[in-house]
Amino acid sequence: MALITWSAEWSVGLVTIDTQHQKLISYINELNDAMAQRKGKDVIEKILAGLVEYTKTHFANEEMLFRTHGYPEALSHKTKHDELTKKVIAFQKDFHDGKMVMSVEIMAFLKDWLFNHIKGTDMKYAPFLKSKGVA
Ligand SMILES: [Fe+2]
Ligand SMILES: [Fe+2]
Repeated sequence: MALITWSAEWSVGLVTIDTQHQKLISYINELNDAMAQRKGKDVIEKILAGLVEYTKTHFANEEMLFRTHGYPEALSHKTKHDELTKKVIAFQKDFHDGKMVMSVEIMAFLKDWLFNHIKGTDMKYAPFLKSKGVA
């Protein structure tokens, strides 16, 4: 069963961004399924690598929109992206080094990691970007 089901509460009201957030959610769901099915380390590492890569791509995408439209809170938003990226890379490394195993707690951490950023930080740019014609 999916850990996260997309619903309106995840939406920032911009289709392009929502689609990217949905892709991040699908990586987290895939990871959750792999954990629940006790998949091997190689399988989990592959999904984790995909999550890390797509996180970077998505953040770069938001930051490009900030630059293009002159979003005033771009700098503090980027700082939060950098912190989140560091966290997920540290997590990937700990898993690789065998310092951590996949667990319900880790999945809850990843769910909150994404949800809190979307609700707390991404939501702030929504009205600004909408006013600039971003859909
Ligand atoms: Fe985002
Ligand atoms: Fe963001």
